[in-house]
Amino acid sequence: MAEDFDTPDLRSAHVIVLGNEKGGTGKSTLSIHITVALLKAGYRVASIDLDVRQRTLTRFLENRRSWAQTAPWPVELPLHYALDRGASENVNDNETMEFTAFAEAIAAVEHAYEFVVIDTPASDSYLMRLAHSLADTLVSPVNESFIDVDVFSRVHHDRTRRGNVAHYADLVLEARRKRRLVDNGIIDWVLVRNRSLSIQSNNARQVGMSLKRMSAELQFRVAEGLHDRVIFRELFPIGLTALDPIETAVQNQTLTSSQLSGRREVETLVQTLRLPVHQPGMEHLEARHRWYEGISHFYRNLAASAGE
Ligand SMILES: Nc1ncnc2c1ncn2[C@@H]1O[C@H](COP(=O)(O)OP(=O)(O)OP(=O)(O)O)[C@@H](O)[C@H]1O
Ligand SMILES: [Mg+2]
Repeated sequence: MAEDFDTPDLRSAHVIVLGNEKGGTGKSTLSIHITVALLKAGYRVASIDLDVRQRTLTRFLENRRSWAQTAPWPVELPLHYALDRGASENVNDNETMEFTAFAEAIAAVEHAYEFVVIDTPASDSYLMRLAHSLADTLVSPVNESFIDVDVFSRVHHDRTRRGNVAHYADLVLEARRKRRLVDNGIIDWVLVRNRSLSIQSNNARQVGMSLKRMSAELQFRVAEGLHDRVIFRELFPIGLTALDPIETAVQNQTLTSSQLSGRREVETLVQTLRLPVHQPGMEHLEARHRWYEGISHFYRNLAASAGE
C-alpha cells in the first residue's frame, strides 16, 4: 500500500492555485486568506510564491513571521517557498533555474503536506502555465467589471451573445487537457467574486449573468467571495488576517460588524471550495478519490446540461 504514495497521481497534497492573467484581481489576497484559514483548521500547509517580481505572499509571510516572534498567542505559518528571479541575461537559463526551484519545492512538500497554496503572477509564463496544470483547485478571483470578464470570454457588445474564448480561459483549458493526459486529474476551476460592493449595482448583476452563462461552456463554478473591506487589506504590514484574533492583537476591543462579516466571508469561501477532508495515510487517499468522484459527477452534469 505504501508504494501508492510514490506514484504522482496519488500525491497526498491537494494543490490550490490562485490564478488570473488579469492583474490586481485579488490572487495574493485570497492566497493569504486561504492559507491562514487552512492553517487555522489544523492542516499542514505549504505555500509557494511564483510571483518573482512582486512577492506579495512572501512579503506578507515575512511580516507574519516577525509578528509571530512577539505575539502572545501562537501564529500559524506555512512552510513557504519563494522563487527567486533568474539573474542571468539569458531568458532560457532563467526559466530553467525557476523551473528547477519550483519542481524542487513541489517534490519537497507534495507527500508531507495536506495542502499546497500557489500564488501566481498576472503575466503569462511557462512556470505559471505549469502551476495551472498541477492545480486540483484553481481559484480565479474576478472583480465586478466586464474588463475582468473579458479575459475569460471576449465580451460581446450584445452581452446576451457568447464571445470567443479569451486568452486566460484558453490557458486553463490547455492546462486541463495536459492534466487529463498526465494523471487523469480534474481541475476544479472556481471563479471567486472579489471586492464586491454591498449594494448590488446593475453592472454587478450583468457581470454575474455573464459569468453564469460562461460557466457551462468553460466548466467553472462561480463562488460568492469577498466584499471590498478594509479588513482584507489593512493587516498586511503586520502579517495578520481577518481570521486572526485581531481584537486582542491590535484593537483591544470587539470587532466591528464589517470585520466579523469579513471573517465569515473567508470561512464561507473556504467551504465553498469543497476541498477534500484530509486524514492521514490511506484514509486521506480514499477521501481524495471520493472528492474526485464528486467533482467528476459535478462536471458530467454540467457538460450534460450544456449539451441540452
Ligand atoms: N476583498 C478585498 N477588499 C479590499 N481590498 C482588496 C480585496 N481584495 C484585494 N484587495 C486589494 O486590491 C489590491 C490588489 O489585490 P492583490 O494584490 O491581492 O491582487 P493580485 O491579483 O495578487 O495582483 P497582481 O496581479 O498584481 O499579483 C490590493 O491593494 C489589495 O489590498
Ligand atoms: Mg499578486
